[in-house]
Amino acid sequence: MSESQRHMNTRKVTTHSLRRMKERGQKITALTAYDHLMATLLDEAGIDLILVGDSAAMTVQGRHTTVSVTMEQMLYHASTVTSAVDRALVVGDMPFMSYHVNPDEALKNAGRMIQEALVEAVKLEGGVKVSETVRRIVDAGIPVMGHLGLTPQSILQFGTYQVRAKEQAEADELKRDALALQEAGVFGIVVEKIPATLATEISKSVDVPIIGIGAGPGCDGQILVSHDMLGLYTKFHPRFVRRYANLAEEMKVAFGRYAADVRSRDFPSEDESY
Ligand code: KIV
Repeated sequence: MSESQRHMNTRKVTTHSLRRMKERGQKITALTAYDHLMATLLDEAGIDLILVGDSAAMTVQGRHTTVSVTMEQMLYHASTVTSAVDRALVVGDMPFMSYHVNPDEALKNAGRMIQEALVEAVKLEGGVKVSETVRRIVDAGIPVMGHLGLTPQSILQFGTYQVRAKEQAEADELKRDALALQEAGVFGIVVEKIPATLATEISKSVDVPIIGIGAGPGCDGQILVSHDMLGLYTKFHPRFVRRYANLAEEMKVAFGRYAADVRSRDFPSEDESY
């Protein structure tokens, strides 16, 4: 039995099973999806956690950052994903400004993700500064995932996509943020583009699963943007992305072959006609 078949036969992934995977030292697999088809394939491949990321702004909408994607757009993407998934835990990203104004508004928007898009958890960026908001959402019964390090919604403030927390002061702050999020009740934390040693230290020092992206092998699990690892989104290629396919090239070849066949009148053939 292949690894993915073994996973497909296992039960629905929940926030509790992710915690048990950490306790057992079993690595957690996570990828992004923004539509029904991609979500179907990820679930069939046995991926544990599917994130409807606000990276949709870049991969689907062609924007330069994630900050422009709206609550309504995230609800749309998330509902197409949840309609496809049987096994994986589906987490919906809270878009920029959907949780920043105040905890009440954040709770209302998290509730919309759960009730309208049917995700099973939400993710938001930040540490100590959002811990009150996290607590408010968790207290309402909504599982929350944190996101620390290179938090893309702060890109206008960071001004660069470079590695975060290389300096001791920022590393110490990140450790405090992780503990504050755990205290506020998150079920897991994404850490993005931070030194591997720091990510390992955080993974060991908190009880909730730490899911890394560009954060080295010491995390409890790994996440990548599906469009990056498939070689579909090729505008840039960060060092931490391993490409498992070259779909952009394959698709362009297929489109070109189709166009050539139409122009040469090879397509459609008699067999492809009625
Ligand atoms: O939006 C997204 O795709 C993410 C991942 C980079 C973790 O937040």
